Amino acid sequence: MSHVTHLICSTCNRRFSPDEIDYTCPDCGPIRGTLTVKYDYDAVGRDLSREALARNREATHWRYRPLLPVERAEFIQPLAVGWTPLYRNDFFRDHFSMGAVWIKDDSRNPTASLKDRASSVGVVKAMEKGAMAVTAASTGNAASSLSAFTALAGLPTYIFVPEDAPRAKLVQLLLFGAHVIKVRGTYDDAFDLCWQAAEKWGWYNRSTAVNPYLGEGKKTAALEICEQLDWQAPDYVFVPVGDGCIFQGMWKGFQDAHRLGWIERLPKMIGVQAEGSGALARAWERSAETAEPVEAKTFADSISVGLPRDQVKALRAARESGGGFVAVSDEEIAAALALLARHAGIMAEPAGATGLAGLRKLAEQGRLRASDTAVVMVTGHGLKDIDGVKRAIHREAIVVEKALEDVEAKLKRK
Ligand SMILES: Cc1ncc(COP(=O)(O)O)c(C=O)c1O
Ligand SMILES: [Zn+2]
Repeated sequence: MSHVTHLICSTCNRRFSPDEIDYTCPDCGPIRGTLTVKYDYDAVGRDLSREALARNREATHWRYRPLLPVERAEFIQPLAVGWTPLYRNDFFRDHFSMGAVWIKDDSRNPTASLKDRASSVGVVKAMEKGAMAVTAASTGNAASSLSAFTALAGLPTYIFVPEDAPRAKLVQLLLFGAHVIKVRGTYDDAFDLCWQAAEKWGWYNRSTAVNPYLGEGKKTAALEICEQLDWQAPDYVFVPVGDGCIFQGMWKGFQDAHRLGWIERLPKMIGVQAEGSGALARAWERSAETAEPVEAKTFADSISVGLPRDQVKALRAARESGGGFVAVSDEEIAAALALLARHAGIMAEPAGATGLAGLRKLAEQGRLRASDTAVVMVTGHGLKDIDGVKRAIHREAIVVEKALEDVEAKLKRK
């Protein structure tokens, strides 16, 4: 039994019992009617405390299970999700003249992206609900992650991806056994088609924002940050944003930790978007509560989203936390990717490096103080998109004959 009490609509506040609804509020529709999962925090507090966590040797995000929507633990698949490293980085601290900078490396998850946090929970819900098949629309990572978990669970999986999804992500999908449907169109087109297919064939829908349980999995990244920093939240958290689900989910994690008395103050959440798919950043500039769609165009494929599906909660998270959104160019993302590799030893995919590009932008605009502390999320691994990563490299290998003199000559010429 979980400690979930109900789900609540983001717009009209209508409450639903978990048995009565799967996706979004019928009165408010899929974008405005995203649901938030609510818990009996007194009961959670009895089952989970900072002291109990200190003794817990479970090195996965399931260490927070009383704060997750799991009714039947036997459906948890045996992959080591979460509890990823939080590296203190003194180079970035000095480079950006700050109090401290940490990098949370979520590319270190089973399928190499943060999305494993969400999929691990999504599969439990699919099984609890007796699903015969699962579907998702994805820019690539959510789906390749889902497919690993559904392979273990033995659930047929139908994935809708945009035609230009990077090869490595498609290979992951096919290897895990998913039925892959490439849509001649954008991620947003794939999203709509997936929704229709789920309705028509009764597949369980793991698409971002539509499914209220995914953000719950993503919030564990925030819980880990609090625990890894000895229950002191940083001043800022920088998160790459496409649909906004990781962003709002992490804010929920910090709020949960605060509600349980685990942290005293909350961080400011900064959502970082690519300029070419910056619908939320634009809405933020206009102080709007919803975002207008844009024609998404960025090489950071994972955050190439025209109409952010978790926009209501994401914009609210920025407002409530005192943070905001910032947009960065593809060049700035590529530069951040190189910086991460050289100074943190982390190979991120373009979207995965976007958080650092956001920190750099705010630092250069003089918006950060010397005492400020920040955590930068790295959300996906660079091996998933080699072509994208190449944009950050401006060097070539040296080709030599089978002779040391040639090596010497070519090295000298360099
Ligand atoms: C590596 C990576 N970073 C960031 C994001 C953005 O997450 P969201 O769509 O929840 O904003 C994604 C989503 O696919 C992703 O795969
Ligand atoms: Zn509603």
